[in-house]
Amino acid sequence: MCGIFGYVGKKNPINVCMQGLLHLEYRGYDSTGIGGIHNGKIEICKSEGKLANLKKKLDLPMLELAIAHTRWATHGKVNHANAHPLLDASGSIALIHNGIIENYQELKENLIKEGIPFSSETDSEVVVNLIAKFYKGDLAQAIHKALGLLKGIFAFLVIHKDHPQEIIATAQDCPLSIGCNIDKSESMISSDPNTFQGDSYDIFFLKEKEIARVTSGCVEIFDQHLKSIRKRSERLEIEQQAPTKNGFEHFMLKEIFEQPSTIRRALLGRFNQGIFFEELQLSNVFFKSIENLWILGCGTSSHAGVLGTYLMEDLARFPSSVEIASEARYRNPILSKKTLVIAVSQSGETADLLAATREAQKYGCKTLGICNVKNSTLVRETSGVIFLRAGPEISVCSTKAFTAQLTVFILLSLYFANLRNTQIDVGAIYKELLTIPAHIEQILERQEEIQKIAKKYAKFDDFIFLGRRYMLPTAQESALKLKEISYANANSYAAGELKHGPIALLGPNFPVIAFCANRQTRAKIASNLMEVKARQSPIFAIAPVEFTEMEAIADDVFYVPSTIDPLAPFSSAVVGQLFAYYIAKERGSDIDQPRNLAKSVTVE
Ligand code: AGP
Repeated sequence: MCGIFGYVGKKNPINVCMQGLLHLEYRGYDSTGIGGIHNGKIEICKSEGKLANLKKKLDLPMLELAIAHTRWATHGKVNHANAHPLLDASGSIALIHNGIIENYQELKENLIKEGIPFSSETDSEVVVNLIAKFYKGDLAQAIHKALGLLKGIFAFLVIHKDHPQEIIATAQDCPLSIGCNIDKSESMISSDPNTFQGDSYDIFFLKEKEIARVTSGCVEIFDQHLKSIRKRSERLEIEQQAPTKNGFEHFMLKEIFEQPSTIRRALLGRFNQGIFFEELQLSNVFFKSIENLWILGCGTSSHAGVLGTYLMEDLARFPSSVEIASEARYRNPILSKKTLVIAVSQSGETADLLAATREAQKYGCKTLGICNVKNSTLVRETSGVIFLRAGPEISVCSTKAFTAQLTVFILLSLYFANLRNTQIDVGAIYKELLTIPAHIEQILERQEEIQKIAKKYAKFDDFIFLGRRYMLPTAQESALKLKEISYANANSYAAGELKHGPIALLGPNFPVIAFCANRQTRAKIASNLMEVKARQSPIFAIAPVEFTEMEAIADDVFYVPSTIDPLAPFSSAVVGQLFAYYIAKERGSDIDQPRNLAKSVTVE
């Protein structure tokens, strides 16, 4: 998943594009580059690594327009040659690309046979040379011909040295938005409309191989048959604020500390006699027609989805299942219009999630998005949406979005509980939910205790995270945190599964992090930990204050405020976040932008 940005207008295109890349870095940061047209020549500057490296070496003449790219490597190593923009062999055309061309090898072999030289390992360079092959003076036409040969998902921006006023854009299953400002003096193109600079824009969202010829303040759009079409634009008010750390060392720590307020925001105005989501465009009559739920997500969002199925089962007695989106999209699921698909995504741009949701819609299912980004593809493509209201989550490692997703799932399960007349006391659970932000504040005040324990465990490279019931997805989520920011080999298991294999791994250099805050299975987790202790694994237990038996069992214990099992993941997850953060800090990894990762995975 990469970020692409283009500008044509009266401002300095380099400055506008560099600002655009700053807001797109969450989509990948293996390399960056910028290119444009100056005196009938293509000029480009590229750099390995993050945007700061490009800034240091940037030395371009004044450009008439510019395209810019931040890369997450799919085909080809992370190096200068594979950085975008990529040129055709003659140096007349430059292209930047987000996505994957699945048949690029065969296309490349054919071009090589025709004598075309290549200078990179990328699939993108095949495309720019295909366009050059078909170019006879009209860039849009050449691109249209090339599209006919491509298989895969993509969003491209293309420029030609002989057309210094136009950028050609096209997209297929990859997000691409084109904005013209209100006085029609400039146009911006981006993978993410929230990266536009200024106040308001008329936005066009390209899809299905539509092609746009973008000039300063004007957009001409053609369908996949190159027929000119009129496309409805949407007015977008940009609330652009440059992300800041507000004094925290990392965005991740800032976002961990935001959680009491983001949970309060997720709750605000959503309980009045019953649960209410003002933005939800699906009716009670519709929900009453639903017989089961299919919850989809990736990574952290899938862990929130697992908790969602537990809550739907326990509180709403609603049959539900959760599926990792990359698996769901290739299954042969038994779905009907009586199934509601709940698609969970912080960014709303995760390719596997979008694809799985589109697949489910083919069965006649309505889809409900749980999302944090208003102008995202998921929000545009689902039948209804509930927003997380967590504010921009900058750190690749998701924290406040997770607890906001959990908050929404609890509210939604209470909403369905009311609708399905289950016998639970919705008011009492909601009242307990209101105490959670204060519980988290207490934990945040004790962060040094967690930091001290983390320092002790930072030397280990292998970890097992354990949990039962509501603590299993909590353990899964906490293991993911540690894995992705400290690069430790951290895996999670249901505590009851230990004896079925994983216990073979245990020993003095294989610590166990035990999430115990589940009253229903208190005695069971205690006996599991006795088995762990007998194998001499160091044990760090996160347990409610009343689980005093943990003193005698674990090497280290962090006590969290006590609450009912369905709400216990909040506090324990925050401990897991801080534990991972301080281990990563101790190990000196790049916490906000860990190696090989990106904030939004927009390719399969
Ligand atoms: C979480 O810390 C990871 N960065 C990753 O697993 C993330 O949750 C996943 O890629 C899904 O992203 P989404 O919520 O934006 O769809």
